[in-house]
Amino acid sequence: MDKKLVVGNWKMNLLREEARELSGALVNLLGEGYDACQVVLAPPYTALEVVRNCISASNVDLGAQNVFGEVRGAFTGEVSASMLVDAGCRWVIIGHSERRHILGETNEQIREKVSLSISCGLKIILCVGETEAQREEAIRKSEDVLTRRRFLFSPIRTQMESALRSLDEKQVSDIAIAYEPVWAIGTGKTATSLEIAEIHQYIRELLTEMFPGSGNNVRILYGGSVKTCNIEDIVSVEEVDGVLVGGASLSVDSFFKIIKSVGG
Ligand code: PGA
Repeated sequence: MDKKLVVGNWKMNLLREEARELSGALVNLLGEGYDACQVVLAPPYTALEVVRNCISASNVDLGAQNVFGEVRGAFTGEVSASMLVDAGCRWVIIGHSERRHILGETNEQIREKVSLSISCGLKIILCVGETEAQREEAIRKSEDVLTRRRFLFSPIRTQMESALRSLDEKQVSDIAIAYEPVWAIGTGKTATSLEIAEIHQYIRELLTEMFPGSGNNVRILYGGSVKTCNIEDIVSVEEVDGVLVGGASLSVDSFFKIIKSVGG
């Protein structure tokens, strides 16, 4: 498996000058040669270029937060995978819960985005996770551990099977799965180590079932209120191959500490 992966998802934050300061300060702190883990910054589209310039001499990679599922054409306001490559992106986040739940993205749209992005050579961070209602339902309906797990895992199985079904063994090695329980994103609530381990183990089983040759090499990240105060517990979970960080990636001090906790 590749090195652990730390992704900073800035969401709809930071003007270009702020983006320049933050990415510049991060590269200074890390040092240009830092490669103990792979770091990816995903700024908003408007700041891709300034961040690209700030990180160009370092091992930090550029990522986008979204992409459209068509190659080109009359899709006002959208950005294609080849445009992202042209803008210097190596990565794209697909299927983030804010896009699924606020912007109504469907599993089918996510599948199209995954397949086009892969064909353009982008690496993908595919987000999956259950809502609070789905987790509560699993707990309510569970007469036994197996039934609870079946309910709990079912939304993740649907999201992953749908997004990955057209990929082959080679293509899936360009994907990282980010498990982000929706109830933990931006809420300050984090899944416990046991909860994270349980779902990450399940995701690994599903990956090896779908891709017996390369499912073991796909990185599985945790996301959802990752902070300096909980990162040590999160990375100590054996099944965690990295983290997807929202709010805490907007401060250079906290993001730097998180990176160092993951990579050393
Ligand atoms: P958060 O966001 O760290 O602010 O909870 C994580 C994410 O949405 O990727």
